[in-house]
Amino acid sequence: MNITENISLQAINTFGIDVRARYFSAFASLEELVELLDFSPAAPLILGGGSNVLFTGDVEGLVLKNEIKGIELVFEDEEYCYVKAGAGEVWHTFVLHCLERDMGGVENLSLIPGSVGAAPMQNIGAYGVEIKDVFHELEAYDLVDQKVYTFTLNDCAFGYRESIFKREYKNRCVILNVTFRLRKRPVFHTEYGAIREELDRMGVRELSIKAISQAVINIRQSKLPDPAVIGNAGSFFKNPTVSNDKWAALKAEYPGIVGYPAADGAATKLAAGWMIEQCGWKGVRRGDAGCHAKQALVLVNYGQARGEEIYNLSEEILQSVERKFGVRLEREVNIL
Ligand code: FAD
Ligand code: EPU
Repeated sequence: MNITENISLQAINTFGIDVRARYFSAFASLEELVELLDFSPAAPLILGGGSNVLFTGDVEGLVLKNEIKGIELVFEDEEYCYVKAGAGEVWHTFVLHCLERDMGGVENLSLIPGSVGAAPMQNIGAYGVEIKDVFHELEAYDLVDQKVYTFTLNDCAFGYRESIFKREYKNRCVILNVTFRLRKRPVFHTEYGAIREELDRMGVRELSIKAISQAVINIRQSKLPDPAVIGNAGSFFKNPTVSNDKWAALKAEYPGIVGYPAADGAATKLAAGWMIEQCGWKGVRRGDAGCHAKQALVLVNYGQARGEEIYNLSEEILQSVERKFGVRLEREVNIL
């Protein structure tokens, strides 16, 4: 057991916030995790890639980085391959593994930062696909019962950027591995306009999961700031859902507003980035905390921002959107 004391977490959160953990260790197996838990009376903070957290202060307890590795084919039938990946695998490494073996389903989720184990936390999604669409089951260690449980698709209560692990089981479960159900004959998702445009631009004549992956990578690289260059955690807020009546009223007042049908047409999901931009936040900088100049949904750390400064900026943004549009935004990033 190798526990470090009083260590900076700056390099392991993509916002690059310089906070300290009283105790820190990594674990590469359930046995190592259980051994480390004996050391910590309170629930530890589990980290994967640190790409969806904002630290607002030092962590007084134990931080544990999940490094459980391994990707294996556990079962296959006529249509599907069932592939189990350790929670500490890098998500995009897993995507590449699937692409190389012609297993379809995760190509639209290419290049999302972070670990396999954190992916079910908020049911990661991009370009028309969410992990719930390829999820089979996961194993998690329950810190209260001190047992490993299997969660099937229904158990996880997946929603848009939601799961049971962000709600009832918050800080209670350590996800150990995830099994995905991938297609042998892929079904292509190109309904997101930008994907079709990018495939055309690339001159792709025959669709393939590799071509879609490359299109998604190109779009992401052109739009989203690279955390290696400028600290960020992707979209800071969720895109809010409103009733269709509210949508009609907003559309009448703001004809340019961007929204998409949600809940099978029963509601409308609004593009929060558009509303934030209309409130004049795009490119605004307060010290080293800022609202990104190309993507207003992304808050950034230009260098030495404290988590609290980024949080305060997010609060101002949230309030101004509510004042102008009567819509309350919800933070997507986990505030710690
Ligand atoms: P962390 O930030 O380490 O942890 C996130 C939360 O999960 C924390 O609460 C942590 O305690 C908990 N956690 C982590 N691992 C475990 C585990 N094994 N067991 C239990 N709890 C755990 N997200 C999308 O959905 N779609 C996108 O398109 C997208 N684009 C992004 C682009 C950029 C540039 C960035 C920086 C982020 C983006 N994100 C996106 C957000 C982020 O990539 C995902 O939320 C990702 O799943 C986080 O993984 P992580 O390992 O870094 O999690
Ligand atoms: N828009 C603006 N101004 C902005 C930003 C966006 O007007 O500053 C408009 C765009 O022009 C577009 C619409 O808003 O019409 C949507 O923008 P985009 O396609 O860039 O997607 P998004 O809503 O900003 C969401 C996810 C991303 C995901 C992409 C692609 C959320 C909270 N965010 O972003 O996920 O990669 O769609 O599917 O749902 C993340 O969760 O961290 C993340 C990056």
